[in-house]
Amino acid sequence: MTTSVIELRGAGRRYGDGPPALHEASFTVRSGEAVAVLGPSGSGKSTLLNLIAGLDRPDTGTVTVDGVRVDRLGEAGAALYRRSRIGMIFQFFNLLDDLTVADNVVLPARLAGVSRAEADRRAAELLETLGIARHARSCPGRLSGGERQRVAVARALMNRPAVLLADEPTGALDTAAGQDVAGLLTGLNAEGQTIVLVTHDLALARSCTNRTVRIADGRITDDVRSDAVTPEGVR
Ligand SMILES: Nc1ncnc2c1ncn2[C@@H]1O[C@H](COP(=O)(O)OP(=O)(O)OP(=O)(O)O)[C@@H](O)[C@H]1O
Ligand SMILES: [Mg+2]
Repeated sequence: MTTSVIELRGAGRRYGDGPPALHEASFTVRSGEAVAVLGPSGSGKSTLLNLIAGLDRPDTGTVTVDGVRVDRLGEAGAALYRRSRIGMIFQFFNLLDDLTVADNVVLPARLAGVSRAEADRRAAELLETLGIARHARSCPGRLSGGERQRVAVARALMNRPAVLLADEPTGALDTAAGQDVAGLLTGLNAEGQTIVLVTHDLALARSCTNRTVRIADGRITDDVRSDAVTPEGVR
């Protein structure tokens, strides 16, 4: 049995008096799914992701993630929610360049009140798994784009998120590094990680997800599963 981990019901968002960035969207993601959100620039992909992440709130409807009514959270509640349940990776990594790789990765756990020893242990394990342990003491600015994205993935996984959100994670990478990150996401999903991936890149979507949602002008126009690829109920 798989349960829904993300549920949007009639979630709409409009900025100012422009057209809605997202029309009332209803959208469910089951635990263990990897979903690609595809659509042209300005179609509402990041808006959707930001609602799931609790970075923004809908004007209408509800957003429930891992049992939390995200649309009802205040600022502090949303920060706590993100820290405990959401991992995010971005096109430009969003790492802190004044901190070492290890300290970047440890940070979410430290903010969540995990002890230094425990956080260090988990970070070392993640850096090892992701093949970047040798860069632990470097600052991210010295790493290649692909390596930086691996650090960002490690940081995103630090607090064992219910959902990993990725907004154009290969957008700033060359083809080889992009494929490397795609492989990483595929591997994480195979281990049961629920993933929502926003991208312009259909090939990327096909390579590491088992469901494709298309958005145009703030409306979900298409939602296609290819469940044959991945067994259900892994998580
Ligand atoms: N904070 C904001 N204030 C005003 N308008 C916004 C804001 N955020 C997004 N929008 C508008 O909402 C619409 C959807 O934007 P969104 O960022 O979700 O698009 P996107 O699909 O992620 O595009 P891209 O592929 O370029 O990242 C766009 O018209 C955008 O200009
Ligand atoms: Mg965007």
